[in-house]
Amino acid sequence: MQIGIPLELQSGERRVAATPKTTEQLIKLGYSVVVQSGAGNEASFPDDAYVASGAKIVDAETVWASDIVVKINPPTDDEIAKARESSVLIGLIAAPRSPELLQRLANRKLTVLAMDSVPRISRAQSLDVISSMANIGGYRAVIEAAHEFGSFFTGQVTAAGKVPPAHVFVSGTGVAGLAAIGTARSLGAIVKATDIRAETAEQVKSMGAEFVAVQSEEAQQSSDGYAKEATEDYAAAANRMYAQQVPQQDIIITTAQIPGRPAPRLIDASMIAQMKPGSVIVDMAASSGGNVEGSVADEVITTANGVKIIGYSDLPGRLPTQASQLFATNIVNLMKLITPGKDGNLVLDLEDVVQRGILVTRDGEVTWPPPAVSVSAAPVAASGAAGAGSGTGGGASAAAAGLAKAGDISSQNNVEKNPRDPRVTYAVAAVCAIALLALFAISPGGLLGHFMVFMLSCVVGFYVIGNVSHSLHTPLMSVTNAISGIIIVGCLVGFTALNQATDMFLGTNLAIIILSVIGILLASINVFGGFAVTNRMLKMFRKG
Ligand code: NAI
Repeated sequence: MQIGIPLELQSGERRVAATPKTTEQLIKLGYSVVVQSGAGNEASFPDDAYVASGAKIVDAETVWASDIVVKINPPTDDEIAKARESSVLIGLIAAPRSPELLQRLANRKLTVLAMDSVPRISRAQSLDVISSMANIGGYRAVIEAAHEFGSFFTGQVTAAGKVPPAHVFVSGTGVAGLAAIGTARSLGAIVKATDIRAETAEQVKSMGAEFVAVQSEEAQQSSDGYAKEATEDYAAAANRMYAQQVPQQDIIITTAQIPGRPAPRLIDASMIAQMKPGSVIVDMAASSGGNVEGSVADEVITTANGVKIIGYSDLPGRLPTQASQLFATNIVNLMKLITPGKDGNLVLDLEDVVQRGILVTRDGEVTWPPPAVSVSAAPVAASGAAGAGSGTGGGASAAAAGLAKAGDISSQNNVEKNPRDPRVTYAVAAVCAIALLALFAISPGGLLGHFMVFMLSCVVGFYVIGNVSHSLHTPLMSVTNAISGIIIVGCLVGFTALNQATDMFLGTNLAIIILSVIGILLASINVFGGFAVTNRMLKMFRKG
């Protein structure tokens, strides 16, 4: 089948849906690729680069005559008219807000896969363009704020005086919010953040920021990775928190969003009026209602007291090369999923919640919305309620069942285990005890002592490692790896080097000495390698 990549027509759009690198990957999957002339220019991907990757450069008509058209923004009427009937269209569709567009796509009998409808389950992360773009958006929001802000982010002590670090507050710690926290921290700012979903506090802390909790009973435990609308009680408590926090901040980045709803209003004009002149607010939700009073989509507003409110809605497009590469990689991951034979033939499996989730029109029908899915952020149901679809209204929905089939961890957690008969456990323990006693009866005297030490170290190790946070398991493993290396060195010294030292220069038992040297060399690699890996891993957790 042929994949067509058109030039994006939306004003100001600089991204492209395939890059030379991903073109090669699509060709490896068995597809032929045609790219509209100039489609990648704004993202620094010239036509020549696509040709070198194996694509053909063509005009718009040829692109839209392809079996599959992959683009970024929703298609215009003109583009829908150009599309071949019954062909496949892949891109952002904004299905919840565009019922008329869905109908027009269905009328054209297009099979449309909406990349912005990928369910938030761990298995689908590699195709989640919303997360990819929000990540870039969060990063760019901080860069735009830094551009407008008149001071350093990091504190400095210079000959000319002391510069305090900037205070940054991030509201909404989803994908964009966490990216903003990471960027602001890496620039040296002191960062605080809040979110209506209580479970994000740990993530915020792990990024080196302080979580500011709203003092309300209503903090949410999310079932699907998204928030629900705040109650009046929560909103009042949040208002008190913002009234206290906002005046202290130099930079505020707001990303709060509830799917399918206008963005919640978090910061009002009276709070902004108390901020210092020169402070900057980036309202990432400006185009969907705005978290900040006075923000205007795609504009920078300066308030009477000199606070700048940025409402750009094209933040990912402001990094067009990187944004195109990530979007295009998400597309390749989708194509891998729907090209099981790697033979250039697209095959949709509607039993798969991911593929069903993104299918919005097919055979002249609108197939959106898909059945609800319970996703990996869902809390595990209590054992008595096994099988209940957590957070989706209860009851084992068809989608939840589909998820279990697809191997999603959250669903599998809900499966009740058959309790084992205690008599079997006692019988196994008795057999093991008898076998051990028999072994000690016939083994040399020292074995029992060594065995006791081994068993005790197992117990101590179990409790030590069991209490370590999962995120630190890899550095811990590399340390224990290093320690095991030391043990090997110890053994070699004990068994060979000391005993042989006296004979070494006399030339006896050369084989043992050579083996000892090799053993010590290999063990040293284990020791130094272990510590090097630990150091590298720990650096990932140290911010700033
Ligand atoms: P997300 O859904 O991952 O994160 C939104 C966060 O807001 C969630 O953690 C949610 O719990 C939180 N939230 C909801 N209501 C809240 C409240 N009342 N108080 C505190 N927190 C609340 O969304 P994502 O992908 O991180 O995107 C964030 C926003 O940025 C969205 O509005 C999205 O449309 C926008 N965006 C804007 C871009 C731009 O160029 N301006 C680019 C990419 C995303």
